[in-house]
Amino acid sequence: MLRSLFRMKPLDTIDTTTNQEPSLRRCLTALDLILLGIGAIIGAGVFVLTGVAAATKAGPAITISFIIAGGASMFAALAYAELAASISGCGSAYSYAYAGFGEFIAWVIGWNLLLEYIMAVSSVAIGWSGYVTDMLKVLGIHTPIFITKNLFEGGLVNLPAMLIVMAIALLLCIGAKQSARFNAIIVFIKLIAITIFIVVATDHVQVQNWSNFFPFGWSGVVSGAALVFFAYIGFDALSTTVEETISPQRDIPIGIIVSLVICTVVYIIVSILLTGIVNYTTLNTASPVANALLSINRPFVAGIVAAGAIAGLTTVILVMYYGLTRIFLAMSRDGLLPAIFAKVHSKTQTPVTIILLSGIVIALIAGFTPIEKAAELVNIGTLTAFVFVCAGVIVLRYTKPSLHRPFKLPWNPLLPLLGVLSCGYLMLNLSDVTWWRFSIWTLLGVIIYFAYSWRHSVLSK
Ligand code: ALA
Repeated sequence: MLRSLFRMKPLDTIDTTTNQEPSLRRCLTALDLILLGIGAIIGAGVFVLTGVAAATKAGPAITISFIIAGGASMFAALAYAELAASISGCGSAYSYAYAGFGEFIAWVIGWNLLLEYIMAVSSVAIGWSGYVTDMLKVLGIHTPIFITKNLFEGGLVNLPAMLIVMAIALLLCIGAKQSARFNAIIVFIKLIAITIFIVVATDHVQVQNWSNFFPFGWSGVVSGAALVFFAYIGFDALSTTVEETISPQRDIPIGIIVSLVICTVVYIIVSILLTGIVNYTTLNTASPVANALLSINRPFVAGIVAAGAIAGLTTVILVMYYGLTRIFLAMSRDGLLPAIFAKVHSKTQTPVTIILLSGIVIALIAGFTPIEKAAELVNIGTLTAFVFVCAGVIVLRYTKPSLHRPFKLPWNPLLPLLGVLSCGYLMLNLSDVTWWRFSIWTLLGVIIYFAYSWRHSVLSK
């Protein structure tokens, strides 16, 4: 039994020629991937959390928090790029752990990835609903509170959050290429909105707003980094596109690295400007970027940015939801989750059962849970995966030296080690409650593994 915990999946390198039917369809290009990356990355993190983090954690030094979180993400991104370009399958960190650390660790990682993605999609859907209801209010349309807020917030159910999840579920069922096209259009809108913000804000910076740059000291900067780390989550979802990318070995590293670099630059510029145009103490609101524009008397631009934020949140839901279904698919194919889910629809070539089933779960969470409860588990689940992916690079370089690696992370083992340390350090800066909830979820996963997955694993047969 103990031995079976460490059984490893043979390392399959990527083969783009042997797609059996019905399988996922290879249709994504490097540009699709870069846009999907930006689609998944820029969202609630910059449009919502920057304000809270600046006001309550780091002050104007929130820009330094963004640089720290961006650095940790970049180490992880390089590690993801190496493994995604060399190992086949759509399971992302779960598949790499299966090849490098054995089945049990792979299960724990996969189980936590499911939590990360389910909670990320749910919390961004709740944020989306908040922005849309506010926008409708500005337009004079007042929606009743009992269908826009959950029980904890004085309503009954957050219906807009549930509806956006179901709408995206339908899009994902239709096909990956169609989803990527929709994503490209919306990413374009969100980038225009951010550019307009940058142009307008540059003209309104008041240097005295930066005079108290470190109001909460270094510890504030680090806990700010642990919080805004959320803003970088998403590039990892690109590693789940291996089976649907035309040239995955070349294009996935390009997609991951280029989208992360673009987003890091955007975050640094937006955060420095945001704390430059208003005092950081005023930023603790649900829509800090739009509010800051209102307070410098730019209501029209504030409206454009709010629309850009809604667009931004929509693509985060889309791409993270996509990633979730592919990891779920990989785990079902391996038998660790019921294999019945692993069916791919013969016409649309998408995993329809998984998409609909996870849609129902996410919609229920989004409809009935407060946003902070959903969001707090996202960072810890992601950071755990990042630590294992960075460690996985080091382990696989020693255990599988001859694996074909079309993209090689430079300065091994220094860079992946820095990735392990920086992501681990950010984890230590998350709250105790988060750690408790995370431990309970992991324990539940361990119970399921021993009760079901261990016996049903394809490797056990
Ligand atoms: N990075 C994504 C966001 O900020 C999860 O919404």
